[in-house]
Amino acid sequence: MVEPEHFRVDYAINPYMDPRDQPDPAATRDQWSAIAEAIGAAGGRVEVLGQRPDAPDMVYAMNLGLPFMGGPTGRLAVLSHMRFPERRMETESAHAWFADRGYTLHRFGSDGVGAHFEAGDAFAWRGELVVGYGPRTERLALKHLAHELDITVRGVRITHPGMYHLDLAFCPLDETRAMVCPDAFDAASARTLLGLVPDPLVLTEAEAMTFCANSVVVGRTVIMPACPDRVRGQLEDWGFEVVIVGVSEFLKGGGAIRCLTNPLDVTLGRDLRTR
Ligand code: ARG
Repeated sequence: MVEPEHFRVDYAINPYMDPRDQPDPAATRDQWSAIAEAIGAAGGRVEVLGQRPDAPDMVYAMNLGLPFMGGPTGRLAVLSHMRFPERRMETESAHAWFADRGYTLHRFGSDGVGAHFEAGDAFAWRGELVVGYGPRTERLALKHLAHELDITVRGVRITHPGMYHLDLAFCPLDETRAMVCPDAFDAASARTLLGLVPDPLVLTEAEAMTFCANSVVVGRTVIMPACPDRVRGQLEDWGFEVVIVGVSEFLKGGGAIRCLTNPLDVTLGRDLRTR
């Protein structure tokens, strides 16, 4: 997670951002700490990266890059190449942080050329990397990912402007279950994604607009920014414990709990098959 020392809404790069509606610093801090505590209480461990003063969106740590354990070098990370120049400097800080920890780094589009890739669009699940493209990640990036990592990439085209990253419409829960909002995708991609999930919890557009898919799963605990009753009923029937942490201040930047975190324990050869 990135400590929210300089979280602001300075520009609008998604439909939720409005620079006239700034986050309250005290509430920001409290909400961020509550997420970190909930992750700890569920059995996770949080590592913290400082925020650059010139990068107000850097709190959304998920977009810094895609880290993996395993592989020939033990640890590797694919750094994002953000769609909007307003966020591109974040990659420099992510690079330094991962390099300090011994990660081998793959860079998309150094010097500002090359396909856009934002890690909030990617999930390693059931052996494959599921990647949303359209609003942020470009389709060409999928080829680069498959080639660089020697993995199978499943692309799904996002068409809903309000679900501009895959993690607003898709949330893997365990080996077979995931929340999915088909309305985020074109018809073929919605079918593709539903075809990948043996036990889907299908979200309506209205349910997804609560950002309930933008959640973090630690074991059987689902840490959520909101949870409609119907969704809670299904999660509890499946044996999950729902923990709600309010993130009103971070919704002003268009992100919630998954966006504010980045899992460091995704393992090549376990969560993602290499070819
Ligand atoms: N303001 C940020 C942006 O528009 C929010 C990022 C949300 N992150 C996410 N993983 N969905 O880029």
